[in-house]
Amino acid sequence: MQRGRALLPFLALGLALFGCRDKPSAPTPSAAASAGPRSYLVGVSQCNLGEPWRVQMNADIERAAAAHPNLKLLLKDAQNDSLRQRAQVEELVAQHIDLLIISPKEAAPLTKPVREVFERGIPVVVLDRAVEGEAFSTFIGADNRIIGAEAGKLIARLLGGKGNIVELEGLMTSTPGRDRHDGFREGLGTKSPELKIVFEADMAWLEPNARREMESALAAHKKIDLVYAHNDPGAHGAYLAAKAAGREREMKFVGIDALPQEGVRYVKEGILDATFAYPTGGAEAIALGLELLAGKKPPHRVTLGTRLFTKENVERGGETIP
Ligand code: FRU
Repeated sequence: MQRGRALLPFLALGLALFGCRDKPSAPTPSAAASAGPRSYLVGVSQCNLGEPWRVQMNADIERAAAAHPNLKLLLKDAQNDSLRQRAQVEELVAQHIDLLIISPKEAAPLTKPVREVFERGIPVVVLDRAVEGEAFSTFIGADNRIIGAEAGKLIARLLGGKGNIVELEGLMTSTPGRDRHDGFREGLGTKSPELKIVFEADMAWLEPNARREMESALAAHKKIDLVYAHNDPGAHGAYLAAKAAGREREMKFVGIDALPQEGVRYVKEGILDATFAYPTGGAEAIALGLELLAGKKPPHRVTLGTRLFTKENVERGGETIP
């Protein structure tokens, strides 16, 4: 009896200890609140950070992700090299990402790496430049064919249906380059035989290349009425070449991107006659990425809009095009 009674305090202590150990895992309201939503690792594969537009895309992704403390970004810059981008996608998978956001340099070389990630069950958001086929979760980007066609229609109007045109193309192994070219030819139309493309070159989206190509165009053609470049850095490079030759007043310049500190500023300064907005889609990539992580099925393609900026409308923020 005495022994039994003597054990009681130990039993009570044991129960108390057991009770204490058990407590933290009990779902008290405060513990549930501090656990928060599941954390996710998001791999971002950027093809190049040498251009302001891509720096802006990353900033848009980072700003949108910052509103979700459960998202951690792993950012890679492929420095304009498709093979490096391919290796970086593999590195991100090895780091156990839960979602991949990729803006591929070129369609063909990045198609297989993207498909492999998707087929492993990791959701993939493809941004701005496409891959071939449909093996990804969601593509987000503006319609480059429409932008090219609108540029063609505007240019036919600016030239009054007559003139010599230089086309400086973005990388033709990337989908925006091809679409901005095809759309442009459609929009320019076949009705005006006096609208001539006298010079056409691939400047691979880069201002120094555009400047060099424009020097060749100026040397070969006594009269150039307009330069259509597939992006604003290209249009600016062409302008600098024409200015160095003392010929910048002879022609008009039209570009694409319309970043406030780049294309829109050039329009305000009278360097460009027009530019079309090309949204980065960075914020949308995070919004749709979160849906994918939650197991939802957002649309397979999300098409973003554009705006036209000319000297007439730039001070009121440009205008939407139908
Ligand atoms: C930047 C850029 C932009 C262009 C886009 C097309 O790398 O060249 O100027 O609009 O890529 O993908």
